[in-house]
Order: sequence, then structure tokens, then C-alpha cells
Amino acid sequence: MRAVDIIQKKRDNIELSSEEMTFLLGEYLAERVPDYQMSSFLMAVYFNDMTKEELKTFTELMMNSGEVIKFQGINKFLIDKHSTGGVGDKTTIALAGLFAAFDIGTAKLSGRGLGHTGGTIDKFEAIDGFVFPETRDELVKMVNSVGTGIMGYSDTIVPLDKKIYSLRDVTATVSSIPLIASSIMSKKLAVYADGIILDVKVGSGAFMKNIETARELAKTMIDIGDSFNRKVVTLLTDMDQPLGFAVGNSNEIIEAIETLKGHGPEDFTELVETIVATALEIKGDVKTLQEGKEQVAKAINSGKAIEFLKNFIKAAGGNPNLVDDYSLLPKHSGEIVYRAKESGWISKIEAENIGKAAMVLGAGRATKDDIIDHSVGILLTKKVGDFVEEGDSLAILQHNNKNVESAINFLDKTYTLSQEKVLKNKVILEIHSNIGL
Ligand code: URA
Repeated sequence: MRAVDIIQKKRDNIELSSEEMTFLLGEYLAERVPDYQMSSFLMAVYFNDMTKEELKTFTELMMNSGEVIKFQGINKFLIDKHSTGGVGDKTTIALAGLFAAFDIGTAKLSGRGLGHTGGTIDKFEAIDGFVFPETRDELVKMVNSVGTGIMGYSDTIVPLDKKIYSLRDVTATVSSIPLIASSIMSKKLAVYADGIILDVKVGSGAFMKNIETARELAKTMIDIGDSFNRKVVTLLTDMDQPLGFAVGNSNEIIEAIETLKGHGPEDFTELVETIVATALEIKGDVKTLQEGKEQVAKAINSGKAIEFLKNFIKAAGGNPNLVDDYSLLPKHSGEIVYRAKESGWISKIEAENIGKAAMVLGAGRATKDDIIDHSVGILLTKKVGDFVEEGDSLAILQHNNKNVESAINFLDKTYTLSQEKVLKNKVILEIHSNIGL
């Protein structure tokens, strides 16, 4: 077999056999097929898509390129909630309390932030003393005792994705739906969960800029889940503005805690309630999404959710009292109010620019090796659909005297105001699944 013949077949839109895929990916991983041939193959996929069978084989080969983990000895129903990445997405923090309150386990690998999007691992590290499990045994112990175990991604999980992703990045093939779907699903399938909930962000601050491509991605990931007999639910959710008000690390921890106390922003609360209700539907504990949401509201109002979050923080080495005393979190030294330059209804808040403003203040990384300042960020005071008078506060820059001008420059490019009344954005746009939800 020769790589060039396989590339030619894909170029001519002829379905590849499992043997051909296995050869190409195996030889590429072993560095006997060079980057230029793999680039050419990826471009052929970009133009010609993959058949269902090809996608299954490709995802399986990716998944099996490294460790496949089925945590032994976990006595809970496991849900893996994954987001395709957004601005202000602190969902996993809130879920650490809520899933546990319903005896739903989380045993997952999470990432760090890069560019305008933040990462769950960074956010939890805002908590002094917080450490993640380093071994599988430690993670299993944590899941069994407090319901939630989160570990950083290791290079041993789907190494082929890392290699192919770097190539996609420099060959204009990142946005291929089958390549995105197999990249995400191979990582989800490599770490076992009973149900997978995929939060596919849609909008200016997300990978998927419009609902049509997001829907196609969602359906492709569900098809892959089907091929592996896994329950998959995808939520298409709004990222045409940041999620909630807080964008940063400390401030996002606070917002997630406030949400578990029943004082969260409307959009974030709706998203969290929907995800947990969906998990309860997958688990079979409720019959409808509405029933699930009512249960979630009860867990929040009774204080159960916040107690479980405290358990998790304590088990990870942090001080659980921080849920009632935010001075225990890193604190920025200065604040600047960013004000509206005219009156009107806010029709757009470019999420990506808010993410970049927070990043330059220090809340995120421009490059992999940057060090995060957990105390800084952007706190929005208004959202799409709100009316503002000229001079009203739109956002607060929480800073430590670093790059404030640059952050303001990003904010200057962020807001669009309309003279016509604007409706609030819906946060849940669509739900798709392979289990009839
Ligand atoms: N997230 C992934 O893990 N892979 C992609 O290709 C895109 C987003």
C-alpha cells in the first residue's frame, strides 16, 4: 500500500477501506508518512467529506492511538459534559456541585485555556491549595467520595489528535466538520462515560459561527456516538455574547457559586439547569426536561448543590469557606468602569473581543507558556437586549495595572447598539440526541 494512492482515492471521492485508513494513520503516527502527505489527505477530506463508515474507522483509529480509559471501581453513573469552547463558560464548576447532588459522577479530563477562551483547569486553580488528581486511582477515589473527579489532559490520550490538529492549524483544515467531530469524539470515547453531553457553542465567540454548521457538527458527533453505542445529547447554545457576566478565573468561580446559591445570571442558570436536567433524562431519573429542571431548581434552593461543591473543593485541597467568603480568592488591585459611548439597546457583544480583553489583562494565555493571573478579568454589567444611556456602565475591567489600554481597545470593538428595541438572546438554541430527547 502507498500513501499517495490513498490520497488520490480520497481526492477522487472514492470511499476508503478500513485497511487503507489503518495504513495511512498508522504510518503517519509512526512518522513513516510525512506531514505533507497527511496535509494533502486532510485537504481532500475537507473538500470531499467522509462517509459514515470512514468516519467511524477514522475516529476509532484516533481513539486507539493512545490510552483508552475505563475507570475501574467507580460506583456512579458517569456523565461527561463537554463544551466546544466559549467565553465565560464556567459550567463545569457549577456542575461539580449539581451533578454530585444527584449522584451523577464526573470522571473527566479537562483542558487549559488558550487565546480568547478560558479553561476549566485554570479556573479551579484560582482556588488556593486546589490540586487535581494525578493518577487514575486518585481520580476514582475522588469520584467515589465527592462525585467529581477532574484531571488535566495527558499526552497519552489520543496522541494522533494532537499531531493532526497541529497540521490542521497550519493547512486551513481546522473547520472541516468530519475532522472536528472525530477529534472531539475520539477524546470523549477514549475516557468512558455512560452518557455524553456536548455543548456546541454557536456564534461570533465560538468555533461554529452559524447554526447550520453547528447543527451539522452536532449530527455528525451523534452519528459517531451511535457507531460506538454511546448515548449522546448535543445542545446548541448561544455564544454571540459571553455566557453570564464574568470572564476570567476568580470572577467565574464566584459567578458559578452565586448560581448554585440561586443568584446566577439568567442565561447561565438556564444552561446549567438544562444540562443537569438532560443528564437526569439520560440516567432515567426523570421523564421530561421540565421535570428535570424542577429538580435542579430544588437542589439549588435547598442549598444541596452548594454543599456538594464545598465537598469537592475541600477534597481537592481548597478552603470550602470561600463559597461564603470571596476574599479567600485572588483579588485584583484596580477596577475601571467601561461606559457606553451612546444610548441604545445592546444588539451585539462580540464574545471573542471580551475574551481577548480578559486575556490581555492576564486572565488567559496568548501562548501556551503564559502564566495566568487568576484575579483579573472582565465583569459585564449589561447583556444583549438591555437598554443603556450614554455614560452607563457596560463592563468593569478588573485589573492589576497590566495592559489596561489594550483591554480597552478590545472593548471599543465589542459593542453594537441599536435604536430599535432588541430582544434578549435565547441561550439554548436546539437539542439533538440519539436517545429521542
Ligand atoms: N475541539 C477539538 O477538540 N477538536 C477540534 O477539531 C475542534 C475543537
